[in-house]
Amino acid sequence: MSLSFTRADFPEDFVFGTATSAYQIEGHSRGGAGRTHWDDFAETPGNVVRAETGAIACDHLTRWQEDLDLAAGAGLDAYRFSTSWARVLPDGRGAVNAEGLDFYDRLVDGMLARGLKPALTLYHWELPSPLADLGGWRNRDIAGWFADFAEIIGRRLGDRLWSAAPVNEPWCVAWLSHFEGQHAPGVRDIRAATRAMHHVGLAHGHAIAALRSLGVGNLGAVCNLEYALPTDDSDGAHAAARLHDGIYNRWFAGAFRRGAYPEDVLDHLAPHMPDGWQDDMATIAAPLDWFGLNYYTCARLAPCDGPWPGYRTVEGPLPRTQMGWEICPEGLAHFLGRMHADFDDGLPLYVTENGMAWPDTPGHDDPARIDYLDAHLARARNAIADSVPLKGYFVWSLLDNYEWALGYDKRFGLVHVDFDTLERTPKASYHALARALAP
Ligand code: FCB
Repeated sequence: MSLSFTRADFPEDFVFGTATSAYQIEGHSRGGAGRTHWDDFAETPGNVVRAETGAIACDHLTRWQEDLDLAAGAGLDAYRFSTSWARVLPDGRGAVNAEGLDFYDRLVDGMLARGLKPALTLYHWELPSPLADLGGWRNRDIAGWFADFAEIIGRRLGDRLWSAAPVNEPWCVAWLSHFEGQHAPGVRDIRAATRAMHHVGLAHGHAIAALRSLGVGNLGAVCNLEYALPTDDSDGAHAAARLHDGIYNRWFAGAFRRGAYPEDVLDHLAPHMPDGWQDDMATIAAPLDWFGLNYYTCARLAPCDGPWPGYRTVEGPLPRTQMGWEICPEGLAHFLGRMHADFDDGLPLYVTENGMAWPDTPGHDDPARIDYLDAHLARARNAIADSVPLKGYFVWSLLDNYEWALGYDKRFGLVHVDFDTLERTPKASYHALARALAP
């Protein structure tokens, strides 16, 4: 089974890549990394399937050369990776773990040696526990701590990076983790969530400034977007979808690109915002060189009783992935058009994550993943034809990995990982991609 496109169907400079993240693949119990809030969260009963952690994960820390060979072998142009804050600064501040920084230095050189563009994310969720003790994302000081981390990484890697983004998916860092409580630190509190919603943006802005002052270029933001649909045609369902869209999709895009939070969400969060937040908006809206969107699925919303935001999600009719997420490529088309049209600033766009989980086993093909990638890349091609400045697309993920609160069952990789032997086996989707991208 093949993908229905080849490289020739995309602009010549279109960047194909794959994305991973540090805690999900490296093996965080090794190499002098510090403890993270994910280790704490997983040790608390009920939070993570089988209480699994990233202690060993894919052992990328020692197998990274093989993994970069796999990325290059698929014919990809770029590799999106992240630096673990707790690996570089085990206490979050102060002493650097030289072994950790050296690892990323070798990793970047390894990408360049294989013709892969290094696309850095500074923070993909492994907050050092000592910073969590100080309130983590609830504490405004995190903006300064994060800028210091950005500076350390920028000084060491900045001369060889192709692109850099401070925070992966601020909505997950703030709302999913402090309002819904589904990710570390597992807080369910509107005030904590609101502060995190602001401080993560502020940290982003400070990190952009720190990187830019070091001469690091091609700086962007990476937001996850979920296509919010009313479950029926009632006014209530439309209002629910609109509000979900505001919290999930408009809050950060508006802050980063326009320096403004959406009024309909702010109306409710304003009483919980930190004093003087308005003065931070210029920092949060530091100019960007590109905007990245991670897209997986849609959500169907219905109103429900109870306090704000007063909505719930309802199961939809489309086929689902192993995550239970509906396969809805229209949502990608929607966001590509909208992230271009709404802001009217011509900013280059990237799909920085897209992919699906399936209960893959080696020796069995993964046609569902090939279909998924094909359908979403078709929407990407249409967007380009409609003059959307889409410049690249990254598959999530290279390897099966630690899927956060869902542990190791949910397999997103182009490459299967046996978590007992750590053996890597490319899936049919990997081979299909390699064929499509071959010169
Ligand atoms: C995104 C995350 C990534 C992975 C995928 C499935 O929200 O950025 O780490 O968990 O979802």
